[in-house]
Amino acid sequence: MANPSASAILDGIASARTAFENNEAGSREALIDHSRALIAALEIPSEFVQRTFWAEPAQSAIIRLAVDVKLFQHLQEAADAGLTPIALSQKTGVDAVLLSRLARHLVAMNLLAFHDGAFHATKLSNDLAAENFQHSISFCYDAARPSFNGFPEYFKKTEYKSPTLGGTDGPFQEAHKTRLLFFDWLVATPPHLQHFDSFMSAYRAGKADWYDFYPVTERMITGFDSSVSDVLLVDVGGGRGHDVATFAAQYNPCPGRIILQDREPVIASVLANNVEQPFEAQAHNFFTPQPVKGARAYSLHSILHDWGDDDGVKILENLVPALEKGYSRVLLNEIVVSEEKPTLAATSMDMMMLAHFAVRERTEAEWRSILEKAGLKVVNIYNYPGVAESLIEAELA
Ligand SMILES: C[S@@+](CC[C@H](N)C(=O)[O-])C[C@H]1O[C@@H](n2cnc3c(N)ncnc32)[C@H](O)[C@@H]1O
Repeated sequence: MANPSASAILDGIASARTAFENNEAGSREALIDHSRALIAALEIPSEFVQRTFWAEPAQSAIIRLAVDVKLFQHLQEAADAGLTPIALSQKTGVDAVLLSRLARHLVAMNLLAFHDGAFHATKLSNDLAAENFQHSISFCYDAARPSFNGFPEYFKKTEYKSPTLGGTDGPFQEAHKTRLLFFDWLVATPPHLQHFDSFMSAYRAGKADWYDFYPVTERMITGFDSSVSDVLLVDVGGGRGHDVATFAAQYNPCPGRIILQDREPVIASVLANNVEQPFEAQAHNFFTPQPVKGARAYSLHSILHDWGDDDGVKILENLVPALEKGYSRVLLNEIVVSEEKPTLAATSMDMMMLAHFAVRERTEAEWRSILEKAGLKVVNIYNYPGVAESLIEAELA
């Protein structure tokens, strides 16, 4: 089937406008999708090639350079007055002619503004000046982009086969001339680990969390039975506890205990902070039997997408003996890739996983299959407009 016509997309934009003005969830994201579709419908091939292979690569390269010379921070400090090309050149140390050309491209790409003889920040450039986004830009440009650039040569060499699961010869290793696993490379080559951690914190910024759209009161709090267990929620592989901290604040007072689990070094770093937390922290390797029995819910947020099917089934099988039939809920907060209407958020994460870990984001059928193999069944899949990850609620089959 052909793509929708420009007129049909404009009709979609007109109706999305009302939803946007009424501040409806997902309306902003819908307008962005329509706008991308409109460009695809209107652009002629020469414009497509110019945008994709000149304008956008040049933009990301300039933005990466901007991190080094603090371009966005200088413009943010200048506020409404902005900075003339000479003043901006003095602050950044980039020669005035070069700086004007680079910054002008960012004006053409709507990232900066120019008026009254001066360059000005925009809301977006000010947001990108924050440290977590500056680190994200460095991570994406220095670590991820070379892996994508190498796809054509890498896959030609491997005769277009999927990279080996758990292997150390994927597109990432080829691009960075290493045989280390991605996470080991991050640790071995500072400051990539620090940049990656910031990237992870920035990745979900501004988006709803799973407990904002999963009916927590109805599905977890109502029916909570402390005679089965006094634990309400276990966050398996919960990192440093950002999910459980906000969950506890949102559902305060909580009828039961909340437990954060992760690998020993991660939990040690949480405990080392010596800050009182609304959750308990417990070291647990999820490839070993779950020690907390009969909790009302076990959440696994972005855990199984890091692993192939065999390991994913092992993680779930280690959870299954702890579940109370008809009571305990397994909550997978993961991307569910739509085959019919894949979103850019889902496919770009899938490409990140292909390039760096040789694993994949899963379709609904693939999620059902992996859960079934571990003796679980899907109860419901909750989605929220504009949020990439769904909440898959499962229980003992
Ligand atoms: C992609 S992060 C997700 C973190 C958090 N759930 C979130 O969504 O932000 C994967 C997490 O799994 C943890 N992890 C990896 N292997 C583990 C293991 N064998 N046992 C427990 N946790 C593990 C990592 O330390 C990391 O915190």
